[in-house]
Amino acid sequence: MSSVLQPVQGMSDIAAPEVRLWQRIERLAREVLARYGFEELRTPVVEFEALFTRSIGETTDVVQKEMYVFEKGGRRLALRPEGTAGVMRHAAGQGAQETDGARWFYIGPMFRSERPQAGRKRQFHQCGVECLEPPAPLVDAEILALQVDLLRAWGLGDCEVRLNTRGAGGDHARVAEGLRAALAPRAADLCEDCRRRISENVLRVLDCKNEGCRGIVAALPPVAEFMAPESRTYLERVAAHLDALRVAYRIDPLLVRGLDYYEHTVWEIASTALGAQNAVAGGGRYRMELGGRELVGVGFAIGLERVVGVLQNLGRDAALLAPLPPLVWLVGLGEEAQGRNLALMQALRAEGVACRMAPGGSMKSQMRAANKSGAAWAVIRGDDELAQGVAALKNMASGEQETLPVERLVARLSGR
Ligand code: HAM
Repeated sequence: MSSVLQPVQGMSDIAAPEVRLWQRIERLAREVLARYGFEELRTPVVEFEALFTRSIGETTDVVQKEMYVFEKGGRRLALRPEGTAGVMRHAAGQGAQETDGARWFYIGPMFRSERPQAGRKRQFHQCGVECLEPPAPLVDAEILALQVDLLRAWGLGDCEVRLNTRGAGGDHARVAEGLRAALAPRAADLCEDCRRRISENVLRVLDCKNEGCRGIVAALPPVAEFMAPESRTYLERVAAHLDALRVAYRIDPLLVRGLDYYEHTVWEIASTALGAQNAVAGGGRYRMELGGRELVGVGFAIGLERVVGVLQNLGRDAALLAPLPPLVWLVGLGEEAQGRNLALMQALRAEGVACRMAPGGSMKSQMRAANKSGAAWAVIRGDDELAQGVAALKNMASGEQETLPVERLVARLSGR
């Protein structure tokens, strides 16, 4: 097929009726997020490449393998692979007073040049939040509870939450050293990438997808074993808050997440209704330095394609589809009636009625168009009806038809 007729591999159109599911998901998200005091922040899709390399980490898969990078006007730019960095760039550009305690959410497209497969796209959409309140286990628990609330609002209350800690910044070197020592005896059995990762960024061995590496990783000691007692206590306090809120979770002692900015609490949420790519969402507490300002926050992002996938796989999508308002189709016989129908259509729309018409054609072809559109009503006028100030109103489902004055027709259709 010609390349102008298809979207780029791994990127899709989202058309009706599925797009109505997306609209409902987004509307429900906005309702839930407002209850938690979050405001929307829309950041650009294109940012300087350095923003992502600096915050996400030079040796992460996202930065090394998956970013869409291009040069324009001598600048290295990138399509955003995730939302946290852009939101923190926005925060860094403002005074601490304005951004301390900020709660922002975003809904939009992200780009990662991964090998496309079921549930893995090159353009995908995230609904995410970032909260810049002072670090505390209580905040982490509240944000995780928000995420579970959001999933429940969409009908995904049965996902599994895995929770762990990356420890404070001061723990990171000790954790890396501990993991290197634990991996050393098996280094020869790791994949080529992981042998490199041992010295470059050993945490990345823990999320290698290679089967052989996963077997070796499963036998590693919990990363928290290498951390200071305060870091373990921090996680215990998050867990205690979650218990009190009755948010179910499972401690996964080897969960570290694939982005370098995390410290302390991290989590991932998965659904058994998805195949290999079963992560619906991920989040955690993070620290990054941008433009000389240190920013700490906690947040998460939910993959909306995955949410839609779970709803479809479980047959829960139809219940969420936003219904369309009943459509009225105006049929005009002759040029005069067509012109007057255009004005009537605007009057009906002003009363909140959804209407359409065909720009011409026979009665038969106009009625065919009305049928095809799924219209609930047809309003039919020719010269006779115009002369008498009436119109025929046809119920498309029952076929019943009556003639009534135009003012009464408007009142009837608008429910006045
Ligand atoms: P992430 O785990 O990289 O985290 O992505 C979050 C979610 O985005 C994943 O759980 C998945 O549902 C979805 N996702 C990621 N890649 C793809 C893809 N190629 N195709 C379809 N869906 C995908 C982040 O992005 C962090 N910024 C989350 C965060 C916010 N942490 C703190 N604040």
